[in-house]
Amino acid sequence: MAILVPLVLVAYLVLYAFAFPFTIPVARLPIQNFLGVGHAGEVQKPLRESLDGWIEQQERRALEKLLENVAPGGRNVEDVVGGAVIASPSKEHPNYFYQWVRDAAITLSTLVEIYADDTSSKRAPHISRILDDYAQLQLKLQHTDNPSGTFDDLAGLGEPKFEADGRPFIGSWGRPQRDGPALRALTLMEYVRAYNQSHPSLWKSDGDDDWYSLLYDASMPANSIIKADLEYVSHFWNQSGFDLWEEVDGLHFFTAMVQMRAMREGADLARAFSDYGAADWYNEQAERLSGFVQAFWDDKKGHLVETLNSDRTGLDCALLLGSLHGLPASYSTDSPIYPPHSDEILVSLLALVQDQRLRFPINAAPVSTEEDFPILEGVGIGRYPEDVYDGYGTDKRGGHPWFLCTASAAEVLFRTASYLTSTSNLTITQTGLPFYEALLGSSSLDPESDTTYGPSDAIFHSIIEHLKSTGDEFLDVIRTHTSGDGSMSEQFDRETGYERGAKDLTWSYGAFLKAVRARKSMGRSDE
Ligand code: NOJ
Ligand code: NOJ
Repeated sequence: MAILVPLVLVAYLVLYAFAFPFTIPVARLPIQNFLGVGHAGEVQKPLRESLDGWIEQQERRALEKLLENVAPGGRNVEDVVGGAVIASPSKEHPNYFYQWVRDAAITLSTLVEIYADDTSSKRAPHISRILDDYAQLQLKLQHTDNPSGTFDDLAGLGEPKFEADGRPFIGSWGRPQRDGPALRALTLMEYVRAYNQSHPSLWKSDGDDDWYSLLYDASMPANSIIKADLEYVSHFWNQSGFDLWEEVDGLHFFTAMVQMRAMREGADLARAFSDYGAADWYNEQAERLSGFVQAFWDDKKGHLVETLNSDRTGLDCALLLGSLHGLPASYSTDSPIYPPHSDEILVSLLALVQDQRLRFPINAAPVSTEEDFPILEGVGIGRYPEDVYDGYGTDKRGGHPWFLCTASAAEVLFRTASYLTSTSNLTITQTGLPFYEALLGSSSLDPESDTTYGPSDAIFHSIIEHLKSTGDEFLDVIRTHTSGDGSMSEQFDRETGYERGAKDLTWSYGAFLKAVRARKSMGRSDE
């Protein structure tokens, strides 16, 4: 460890020295909003206009509040070790004042994106400091003996959460959880790429002592953070573990999707570091994983299922999250499996939304249809139909909608709109037809299966507009239940709509920011 501190200091100095001469191409700056980008802009314009102002304000507040839970600098983590991300400042009822590997990696992937937007922005040095501290701390956590195991056999990397100060959490828990190392590797790989874009001269593939070798180094046994995580994923992905909701032991869609992406992008990174043997091995696992994830499609049910051989319906917002977090990075040439615009994800989203709409009283109001087919409208979405966790404990009457799940539905729709705009092509299949019928709802346009539509068809534009406006409806549900000061907890009450569960949940802010990013990107073909 001691030797790493000066290295990171050097990295800071270099970062500061080079922070200013870099200008970011205009094309990479975020577009302010998508007003006027669409074609049939009339649909739902009033909602879009009134939502725009709130989103802009909430985007700033969400980032501020997210950073309050991240050390160094966060006001909720003043005494906490640098690089730590707490799940929520709530220390009791419920106690979320821990570092979850998953929550931290997902949250910091949002910070990496902001850093990558403009590595010479005013915020960039602070974010880069957080990411460097995070990397150092993860190295330490990886080597901390814990109830899942140790570093030596890598099993310890499956430990889902640590105390805020970095000590192991020794209470009983649903462990191991095998999504954490994959998510952490993905976040750090994105950081390496972003850092490399602005500091190309620092890139070395010979494994010398440099900023990069803390993150990736070919030597075995693995001693760099990313390589240790990739080794873990490559050796353990086919073993059962607990799901991201920490409740069910088994094989899970979300976990497999992020593992597959980690193996694919890990192979690319290994190759960039001339670690060819590892690249082949990770590729082989990625291939096996891409076959394995097909097992989650249930033909009889007509949607994906989150856990294999489970009594549950399988409908779960983890399907949406798996698609979003499993989506190849923008620089990757991998063909996506189950991306947001895939039929399998879209019909699963429809089935989940239909369930949640009827399940939660607060969702009942907006729907008014005599038709006998479903109409897709934005509503509050929870984790899964059978959920009984109410944010504090168990309630047999059932769960509640979650901010991060509702945001993930919006993000899937926005990304689908972007995809269609950029490809100018939509083939509606038998599988996808129910989704497009529900999306167009009572509109007079009737989608047909086995038909390909493009920009010369009115229905093509209408589908894109409906994707945007329905995504906005989900964000509008979030607006309705977010406190006046912009605070977002974990859940909002199924009956009263008031926030409940851990307050200021870091992941709620991260998921909202990701959805808003996807909203801004709509209509751009470079993403
Ligand atoms: C039970 C919940 O269902 C689970 O998701 C959560 O992580 C734990 N309680 C801890 O709050
Ligand atoms: C409960 C959620 O189910 C789990 O996914 C999350 O990691 C923890 N809370 C902490 O936010």
